[in-house]
Amino acid sequence: MSSKPSWPDYYAVTVDRPAWHTVTEAIALFAAEDGVPGLDGAGEPRLAVDLGCGAGRDARELLRNGWRVLAIDTEHDAIDALRAATAPEDRPRLATLVADIGSFILPPCDLINASVSFQFLDAAAYARTFAQIASALNAGGRFCGLLYGDRDEAAADPAYTCPSPDEIRSWLAGFEIESWDEREEDGTMALGDPHHIHIVEVVARRR
Ligand SMILES: C[S@@+](CC[C@H](N)C(=O)[O-])C[C@H]1O[C@@H](n2cnc3c(N)ncnc32)[C@H](O)[C@@H]1O
Repeated sequence: MSSKPSWPDYYAVTVDRPAWHTVTEAIALFAAEDGVPGLDGAGEPRLAVDLGCGAGRDARELLRNGWRVLAIDTEHDAIDALRAATAPEDRPRLATLVADIGSFILPPCDLINASVSFQFLDAAAYARTFAQIASALNAGGRFCGLLYGDRDEAAADPAYTCPSPDEIRSWLAGFEIESWDEREEDGTMALGDPHHIHIVEVVARRR
């Protein structure tokens, strides 16, 4: 049985957790291409959009690596937690927005990150968001994310959308998949509740 977590508790538990490996991997791939982490070929800070940023474990890792970040979440508590935990020297490169991913128009950017947030979208908004990702990313831009798969126990809950790995791959048809892991296990969620997890962990580069 799945239910949405208490967001303030979730943010308190996750705020100090390290960034997901998909994000550190994407940062490293850009750095290998650019030479200087976070800067594009013209020496300008690259822009990442973090969709469903929560307390900002990923957004702050990007900021620490010189990126500009637009972090979006429906919850004011998430944005407050992210802002409070952001180092003063990184704050000028952080923009935040309380907004629904499903109705947000993505700006042109270099990296779009979605860590365990898209399962809360309904199926139409999920597909629409993926279509937008491909068009918002600059050439050579990347998508990285952790996406619930269809064997996750949340798939039985109509409040969640859990596409199959094949469906996720089909949305990434215009991308080179740089890293793809599918994890399925009986584990625990951030707040300690047991959960059958099926998750796709992906980094992909727009062709
Ligand atoms: C499980 S948390 C993950 C947070 C963060 N990405 C992380 O990995 O720690 C999911 C986040 O997505 C946000 N969220 C859920 N539905 C959303 C929507 N439609 N638009 C924007 N954010 C949403 C929630 O408020 C929550 O902060």
